[in-house]
Amino acid sequence: MIVPVIDILKKAREEGYAVGAFNTTNLETTRAIVDAAKEMRSPVIIQITERTMEYAGGRAIFNLVKNCAEFYAPEIPIGIHLDHGKSFEIIERCANIGFPSIMYDGSRHIYEDNVMITRKVVEFCHAKGMSVQGELGSVPYIGETSMMGEINWDKYMTDPDQAEDFVCKTGIDTLAVAIGNAHGFFKERKEPDYDRLEAIHKKVSIPLILHGASDWENGRVKEVIARGICCFNVDTATRLAFVNSLVKSVRDQSEVSFDIRKLLDGAREAVKKVVKEKIRYFGSAGKVETEKTECVYDPVKKTEK
Ligand code: G3H
Ligand code: 13P
Ligand code: ZN
Repeated sequence: MIVPVIDILKKAREEGYAVGAFNTTNLETTRAIVDAAKEMRSPVIIQITERTMEYAGGRAIFNLVKNCAEFYAPEIPIGIHLDHGKSFEIIERCANIGFPSIMYDGSRHIYEDNVMITRKVVEFCHAKGMSVQGELGSVPYIGETSMMGEINWDKYMTDPDQAEDFVCKTGIDTLAVAIGNAHGFFKERKEPDYDRLEAIHKKVSIPLILHGASDWENGRVKEVIARGICCFNVDTATRLAFVNSLVKSVRDQSEVSFDIRKLLDGAREAVKKVVKEKIRYFGSAGKVETEKTECVYDPVKKTEK
C-alpha cells in the first residue's frame, strides 16, 4: 500500500526506530524490497534517482514500484521518493508523473542559494501535496582513489545552528544530514560526529535522514538512531549483492544459458537478503500492525491468481 513518506518517517521518529529508504533500478530490486518488507512486516521507502529514470523511463519505473507495492504488499506501508533531485526540472517531471515525495539536493550550492532554491521547491511541492527532503552540509561521493586521510571532513559537516535556520527558512519536511557519512562503501569518517548529530536533533524537530549508510554496522546504526536518525538510505549494499550474485550465476553455469530469468532470480534473492538484514538493524521489523492480508500472490510458491 502506498502511503505518504512523511507518515512513515513521523511514526518512526515518534517510536524511536528507523526505516530503510532503498534505491531501486529495476524490477528485480523492486520486488526484492517489497517482498522483504512484507516478510519482515516493516514499512519501507523505495527510492528512484534521476539516472534510474533515464535508464528505465520515469513513468515506467514509478508505475512499476507503485504496482508492485500495491499488488504484492497491500498491507505494508510503502513510500515512493525521488532521491537526490538536483534541478527544478526533475522535480517538475516527478510531480507530473505523480511522485508523492522528493529530495531536492542543493548541497553543492552556497548556503544562500541552497536556501533560495529549496524554498522554491518546497512552495511548488507543498502546493501539490508532495513532501520535500532537503540536504545541508554535504554527503560526499568519494572517488575510489581518494585516501581516507586526505579528506577534510569539516567542509562537509552540517552546522547545527545553520540547520535550524535552513529548516525554518525553507519549510522542508525532512533533512539529510552530514556527520561524517559518505556515499559508497568504506568511505566514511572513522567515527561519525555523534555530538553534532545530537546538537542538530535538539535544534530541528523534523525527521533526520542519513545517506551513505549502506556499510554501517549495527552498533553505529543504533548510536545514530538514539540521536534522532529515523531513516537510512541504502543503495551500494543492494547493488553489490545484485552484481555479485549475477556474476556468480554466470560463472557457475555448466553450459551457457540464455534464460535471463534464471540469472536474475538469484540476484533478486541476494538483494532481498540484504534488505531483510538492514530492516532488522534499523529496528523497523514487525512495526506493521495491520492484519496480514490474504495476498493474491504467494512469494514462496511464486503463484498468483
Ligand atoms: O546517492 C545515490 C545513489 O547511490 C547514486 O545513484 O547512480 O542512480 O545516480 P545513481
Ligand atoms: P550508499 O552509497 O551508502 O548506499 O548510500 C546511498 C544513498 O545515500 C542514496 O541516496
Ligand atoms: Zn544519498
